[in-house]
Amino acid sequence: NTFVVIMAGGIGSRFWPFSRTDFPKQFHDVLGVGESMLQMTMNRFRDICPPENIYVVTNRDYENLVKEQLPELSDNQILLEPIGRNTAPCIAYASWKIAQINPNANLIVTPSDHVVLKQDAFTQVIKKAVEAADSDDVLITLGITPSRPDTGYGYIQYIDDESQTIKKVKTFTEKPNLELAQMFLNSGDFVWNSGIFIWNVQSIMRAFRQYLPEISEIFEEGATSLNTPKEPNFIVKAYSHCRNISIDYGIMEKVDNVYVVLADIGWSDLGTWNSLYTINEKDEAGNVVGGDVLLYDTKNCIIKTPKDRLVVVEGLEGYIVAEHDNVLMICRLSEEQKVKEFMSDAKSKK
Ligand code: GDD
Ligand code: MG
Repeated sequence: NTFVVIMAGGIGSRFWPFSRTDFPKQFHDVLGVGESMLQMTMNRFRDICPPENIYVVTNRDYENLVKEQLPELSDNQILLEPIGRNTAPCIAYASWKIAQINPNANLIVTPSDHVVLKQDAFTQVIKKAVEAADSDDVLITLGITPSRPDTGYGYIQYIDDESQTIKKVKTFTEKPNLELAQMFLNSGDFVWNSGIFIWNVQSIMRAFRQYLPEISEIFEEGATSLNTPKEPNFIVKAYSHCRNISIDYGIMEKVDNVYVVLADIGWSDLGTWNSLYTINEKDEAGNVVGGDVLLYDTKNCIIKTPKDRLVVVEGLEGYIVAEHDNVLMICRLSEEQKVKEFMSDAKSKK
């Protein structure tokens, strides 16, 4: 009764211009390993549950991309959203649907844009968490030791009881400001929320009823349409009433039955240019280079340009130089949070 829900509906705006609305980063082979982030995500669960228990939630615009990349999924395993309403509605949809199939399902909810380098450790940690979620009314997340005051993550403070693998969470703070993130990092009491959640379907539905009742009521009312030919119409209507909110703000920050398992799994979120810079091998000057490039007096840059273009860079330090599909962006690595803005400004220019 273990099910996986892969969330693959984001547009990856912080990874622009590589990630585009019509081809977001989860469908790219970001690492150059011959598999997209989505395919890597699916493969990560091979030892955890059979493929017929893996569901993907995505925007209906990406239906063909998902089918091409994951041909073994049946249509009923691909949940199509008419609009993006962030992760809370996405998780609600999958939960109410899977509860109809198996009311005792244990769910593993995962983003589709992460790297996990230590597969065996991952499988082990997940199995432990699933066991705990199966027997108790707990909402579990995998916690990652933080390495920088990144403001793009959730920060978790937990009760450090050495005898417990599943640790009780004291506070969950989604995307703190830099000052707070720095404080959390210095204190040493916090881990990052990996965004990989494990819970029993009944536990998460209970949390929705309590903290996001306006969403749970919508799905409760239409639950009998799910897994029937009426599902697509119901979902279009449901989403037009759903508010836009992430699971982190909507539920994880509020509930008091959150637990964390510390996970040394070689995790990184390939959500931003900095994360791609960090995970890649650098040359002697600290540059990460993908493309045909001549560098002079250039340090600590990430340069990702098309193969058929020769790029010459002189005198840059700490920059992103990225070209993809008719867009060239040059931006300081330290200002990468602005990339989201560039994407939306660029759209309104067209
Ligand atoms: N189907 C669907 N629909 N998927 C979505 C939607 C949506 O509307 N919005 C986002 N997703 C998918 C994204 O594609 C991604 O795989 C995942 O859900 C998480 O969304 P992000 O938008 O990347 O979240 P985040 O990175 O800002 O924050 C989350 O992840 C961090 C770790 O990477 C939070 O959970 C943080 O607390 C966490 O630290
Ligand atoms: Mg992310």
